[in-house]
Amino acid sequence: MSNQYIGVFDSGLGGLTAVKEIMRLMPKQSIIYFGDTGRVPYGTRGRDTIIKYVKGDIRFLKSFGVGAIVAACGTASSVALPEIKDEEIPVIGVLDATAEKAVKVTKNKKIGIIGTPGTIKSVAYEKLIHNIDSDIFTFSRACPLFVPLVENGYFNNDATRFVIEDYLTDIKNSGVDTLILGCTHYPLLKTAISEFMGEGVTLVEPGAEVAAYIKKQGLYSEFEGNEIDKYQFYVSDNTESFEELGGVFLQQKIIGQVKKIDIEKY
Ligand code: DGL
Repeated sequence: MSNQYIGVFDSGLGGLTAVKEIMRLMPKQSIIYFGDTGRVPYGTRGRDTIIKYVKGDIRFLKSFGVGAIVAACGTASSVALPEIKDEEIPVIGVLDATAEKAVKVTKNKKIGIIGTPGTIKSVAYEKLIHNIDSDIFTFSRACPLFVPLVENGYFNNDATRFVIEDYLTDIKNSGVDTLILGCTHYPLLKTAISEFMGEGVTLVEPGAEVAAYIKKQGLYSEFEGNEIDKYQFYVSDNTESFEELGGVFLQQKIIGQVKKIDIEKY
């Protein structure tokens, strides 16, 4: 396998929000995706466990000789990547590009940040934002129920809307004009979140921002192999629900293209 592949990982489906954007912006780029569906969620776990999982995810993707790896996971990016600096290839997290975009977008200097408990506890977004502009007010909230809602395909139903209202009312009332969807699963709830927050609030998505960053940095290449090998998906639990929900989300059939692996071996 050549190093033209970009490896992308997440704890489950969420990283597909980055994959979708890479496919859109760089249609000739080949991708190997790993969704750690057997160990999702990461965001409610302790720091040491998250670091251990992320190291294994990176080792797995590196076993294909990929040229770069995207940690398409807010939790991995904020909790584990600061501890994993000695890799031989670029390992790109989602935080920097997302924070930069939010600072660019806000007009009233009030930014909301939502993410997993791990991401919010790390205060990584706040630090990055304040490094760029110390006058910005940030309002954050962990939303642990969003990930299981997404993993079960509850993108915009009554249960989802109820949880959104419960989690986001305070942030909405704080008057933010920009909201960072700080977990890559959350863009799958974008319609419902946007309806709740209202038109005046811009949602910033890590998957879209990291894909734009990869393109800007020229970290992509043109795939020359057999088309059937261009996109490869691996998971650590059963393939069926990932194939079904992932296919709906990517708007392309991935049935038969998802393989199960034993991540504990890496
Ligand atoms: N999608 C990931 C994130 O951005 C992980 C969610 C989770 O596993 O808790 O944080």
